[in-house]
Amino acid sequence: MHTIGYGIPELVADIRVIAADAEDEREIVDQVRDLAEWVSRNPEGWLHSGRYACDRQQGFARNLLHEEPDGSLAIYAVTWWPGGSTPPHDHSTWEVVASVIGTRRHVNWLRSDDRSVPGYASIERCGDSLIRSGEAASVLSSGIHNVLNEGDEMGLSLHIYGRTSSPLEPSRFDPETRRQDRFVVRVA
Ligand SMILES: [Fe+2]
Repeated sequence: MHTIGYGIPELVADIRVIAADAEDEREIVDQVRDLAEWVSRNPEGWLHSGRYACDRQQGFARNLLHEEPDGSLAIYAVTWWPGGSTPPHDHSTWEVVASVIGTRRHVNWLRSDDRSVPGYASIERCGDSLIRSGEAASVLSSGIHNVLNEGDEMGLSLHIYGRTSSPLEPSRFDPETRRQDRFVVRVA
């Protein structure tokens, strides 16, 4: 694949083809993860100035790169402060996270309650992996995850979602209090 001229429009077109041809969500995620790793190792066509905002208070910031008008896809460049972390959350869709600069830790959580009590969720950490520069991880729509930037450096990652977040905002989960509420992310 050529890197020259491969930007966000080309990435969007390739994801459209993957989504149209795939038989299920897992197949989409597997292929988009491979593509995201390639794109994160070859950022010349889409990183541009590399000037993305960050949000020190939030610990990270989402910079919108693309949203499909029909809500079927969203792509963000996410910047990370050292130590910045999301809480455990879901998206009601799949997500692929690829590190462009630095290393992220990707943590998976398992929910064990029967979802019968609004605002209550019992989750347990069930595994994690490191996403180094040029690597990607993914979560399915049924999954709960969080991402953190453990190093001393600012970080940048590419996040691809199977639909735009509005009107369905993801939930965030507190494993200590077992509280579930809306996860409102300030977009840079
Ligand atoms: Fe996420």
